This record gives sequence, structure tokens and C-alpha cells, in this order.
Amino acid sequence: MNNPNRTMLVTCAFPYANGDIHLGHLLEHIQADIWVRYLRMKGHSVVFICSDDTHGTAIMLKAKSMNMNPEKLISSMKDRHQDDLFKFSIIYDNYSSTHQKENKNLCNKIYYLLKKKKFIIEKNISQLYDISCDMFLSDRFVKGTCPKCKASSQYGDNCDSCGAVYNAIELLNPISEISHTTPCIRLSKHLFFKLSYFSPFLKNWIVSGSLQLPVSNQLKEWLSLGLRSWNISRDYPYFGFKIPGYIDKFFYVWMDASIGYMSCFKELCDIKKEINFNDFWSIDSKYELYHFIGKDITYFHGLFWPAILEACGYRKPTKIFAHGYVTFQGLKLSKSKGFMISGRKWLSCFDSDSLRYYFSSKLSNNIEDLEMNLYDYANKINSDIVNNIVNLASRSASFLKKYFFNTLSNVLVNSSLYQQFTREAILIEDLFEERKFSRIIQKIRFLSDLANKYISQKKPWILIKNHLFKDKVHNICSFGIHLFRVLMIFLKPIMPVLAEKTELFLNKPLLWSEIDQPLLSHKINNFSILYHRIERSKVDYFLKKYK
Ligand code: MSP
Ligand code: ZN
Repeated sequence: MNNPNRTMLVTCAFPYANGDIHLGHLLEHIQADIWVRYLRMKGHSVVFICSDDTHGTAIMLKAKSMNMNPEKLISSMKDRHQDDLFKFSIIYDNYSSTHQKENKNLCNKIYYLLKKKKFIIEKNISQLYDISCDMFLSDRFVKGTCPKCKASSQYGDNCDSCGAVYNAIELLNPISEISHTTPCIRLSKHLFFKLSYFSPFLKNWIVSGSLQLPVSNQLKEWLSLGLRSWNISRDYPYFGFKIPGYIDKFFYVWMDASIGYMSCFKELCDIKKEINFNDFWSIDSKYELYHFIGKDITYFHGLFWPAILEACGYRKPTKIFAHGYVTFQGLKLSKSKGFMISGRKWLSCFDSDSLRYYFSSKLSNNIEDLEMNLYDYANKINSDIVNNIVNLASRSASFLKKYFFNTLSNVLVNSSLYQQFTREAILIEDLFEERKFSRIIQKIRFLSDLANKYISQKKPWILIKNHLFKDKVHNICSFGIHLFRVLMIFLKPIMPVLAEKTELFLNKPLLWSEIDQPLLSHKINNFSILYHRIERSKVDYFLKKYK
């Protein structure tokens, strides 16, 4: 698990370019970013990439509604997304767009290869067609009555009410979501990827250890129902890449988005000559590949994507890490239902590290949903960060400044307690690797309690009144700083902004490899406030404004 010199490529799912980065997206990017920061701290070589997902009907219609061409919309969205992610300390080696030239080339190349290997077939299919706007309706743009349970207002792919999966033409009383008229049925030729051909391969792959158990169980169930061929084409009007050799046919957004994982990386290889595309993607690659995704898109990542990779002779993901959904004060965050908290709204009231900490305190390597409660959030930050961890530094620092010229003593006054802290590093390493972040937070809380109790029991504020105990006070307060430093090394991947301020204060970078070397006789800098309390009134204000 802790073998040295690992080289890995880590990705997050590509956010759609038709809306802002929201708390749901952020859960994923923060989870992945913490993992990447930790691995880099341990000396591994990690390439971290993501991209905007720019194609499809939703983006085309959004641009239209804004009286804008889609190219302009996706370009401004990309800047916005990157800016938002950056403000949460999420920095990619390459943040690309699925509309980029490299992606188009690779899509065509993969398409030709699939065609040559006879994995693509043509079929005529009937689809709902909106006459008033001259377009075929994709599943999300038509609503009607479920053919099975008769629930009204259901989308064209499946029923929210009874879970039935059907074809949009089976909907009763279908209505176009675009024009609100009744669509007709039209025939059109489409291109299909023969997914079922890969069933035997997928049967093995989904139990190979690359997936979490509930995900692999779900995929097993889908596989046992039999895989249908996958329609990879869409008719005009569509915003996407044209399929070579056809008039007015486009690649389905999920086709070029998945291939985007490769082309986004390829783009980076062209900039950074020291990384090589084939080293990462060839079938015998020694490097690791990880995809962080939400549990709603396991079908694409667990079935289509490995099948496409297998079909073209590329390597498969080492692991796919799925996470659950963020809910907010009991409400589902949903773009379509209009309740969404963007990263921008969050930052108008709160800071980024606190969200990273709060998510961590609730995250593990499972697909459970994560309920956010802002009062719980404020309590956690105030009690764990402000009252405990930062307090440990501030109460020690005030003595060190006043009596000892900001210089730590040359004695480690309680080496067994110090070792108790550093011994935890081994366990915490495993917990980071396994993405059990909430357990890490529990450990950090436990240790910070111990550290504060130690200072409280020693009562330096009383000892300092007697000049005979001056050295003792020096050692005790220096020890407070040593323990604080260990805790901050553990927290660095989770709270990078606080870690940076801490490095300035300690006058020393926080390095995992130096955890067992306390800063004896070391000069620190003046302590300045590292973190502010989150007032209840701010939470009230936020909820009033956005809920
Ligand atoms: N564009 C596709 C992904 C293509 S990857 C080749 C997509 N985009 S998305 O914007 O809808 O979602 C991006 C990621 O955010 C997905 O992993 C999705 O599961 C995740 N989330 C979106 N809303 C979420 C929550 N409310 N909670 C947690 N994650 C959520 O899917
Ligand atoms: Zn139904």
C-alpha cells in the first residue's frame, strides 16, 4: 500500500458547462483533491486532470436561451469553473474542455477503430420528434405518463415513481419540454456500439476489485438483465462533434466526454514533454488510473468506459471511486428543481477550508449520501478548529513571544506523548489512502483534545509567575507548538489555506517526512489569527438568503 514511487493519473467527472460549480460538484473535487495532495506529500507522482463537459442538448438550449452561440457560452463557463475550483484550493494539472481539438481527433480515431473492428452497427429507430422546433427529443426533454404505474410528469428514460425503465416512445401523453406541444414519432438512422459483445469481459472486470462492492453489485444486476447496444449518435440540431461520413449526425455527449479523460491528458503531454501518453494508457501500463465519480454515473464509468477501452486495446481504470450525493438541510440539491448552492454563494459567506474540513468529517470510501447541516458545520469548525487546534497554537505562542523571543526550547519535554502523536501517522496514512477521511478527523480531534489537556494540566500561566519555573514554561509551550505542528501536517491535505498560514507562523514547511523531527531550538514567527469563529448569525443569514 505504501510502496514508493507510484505514478498515477487521477480524474474527477467533468462538470457540465451549463451551470455553476455547486456543493455537489465540490464534494467530488474536494475528495479527490485531498487524496491527491496527500499522495503528493508522500512523494508519489500524481497527475490530476479534469475538464468541462461542453456538448449536448442542454448546453445547446441554454446558449439559445441566452442568445449566445454555444462556443461563447462554454468558453466563459470554463473560466468560471476553473476560477471557482481554484478558490476551493482545487488545482488541476490540466483543466480542459471536451470541445478541444485533441478530443475531436481522438473521438474520430476511436470511432474509426471501433468501426474497423465491427463494433459499430447502424439501426433505424423510432424517436419522439418535436415538429414545432424541428428536432428529435432526448429523454430529458420529454415528459409524460409512466406506461407502467401511470405516474404523471415522468422523463423519457425512467420513472421516478416506480423505477420502470422504458423507451421514450412508450410514454403516455408525451409533451415536449421545449415547446410544450405533443411530439410525433419519426424514424432515424443511428449508430450503436455493440456493448453486449463485451459482456464476458465486463463480467470479470466488475469483480476484479476496481469497484466498491455496492457499485459492482449494481452493475452485476444490470449485466444480468443483458446489455443493449449503446446509441452513440444524435441528430441535428445538436452541439457536439460531427460523426465523419454522415450528414448532420453527431457523437452523443457521453461518447466524447469519456474520451475526454484521454484527450485532456494528451493535451497535458503536449505541454509537459516529460509525461508520455502511452506510458499511462497502453494496455501494459505500469501506472495507476483513478476516476472519482458520483454514484449516478456508474453505468457509464463501470460498463461503457471499460468496454470502449477494451475494444480499442487501452488499459482499464485501476479503480473507480464513487461517492454519494450531497443533501442540504434535508433537501436534495437539484439543478432541474432549481435548488442549488453554488460555490460562489458559499464563498460569499464562508471560507473554502471549512467546507473541505466539514466534508472530510463526513466522508468515507462508500456511496452513502452526505447530509449538510450548517449549524452542525459551524459547531464543528468552532469546536475542532478554532477552540482546539488553533487554540493550541495561540495559547502557546503568546508565552513564547512574551518571554522567549519566539524561539522554541531545545528540550522535548514529553517524548512519549510526542510519540503517541507520530505513531498515529502510520494509521492516518492508511486512512488517507483508503479515503476514510472522517476517521482521520476523529483521530485529529482526539489528539488535539489530549494536547490541550496537557497544556491545561501544566498551567503555564501560573508557573510563569515564579521565575524558577521559567524553563519549564518554555518547554511546555514549545511542546504545545510541536504537537500543533504534527496535527497540522495531518491536516495539510484537508485544509491547505490554514496549512499555508501555519507554515508562515512556524517558519517551516509542513512535511510528512519530518513528522518525527520536532522543531527544537527553532525560531518561529509572530502568531497572527489563523482562523475566525463562524457566528450563528452568519448561518442564519445564509439560510435565510439561499434556502
Ligand atoms: N458531465 C457528466 C460527467 C462526465 S465524466 C466523463 C456529469 N456532469 S455533472 O455536472 O452532472 O456532474 C459532475 C459530477 O458531480 C458527477 O460525478 C456527479 O455525480 C457529481 N454531482 C452532481 N451533483 C451532485 C450532488 N448533489 N452530490 C454529489 N455529487 C454530485 O455527470
Ligand atoms: Zn412508473
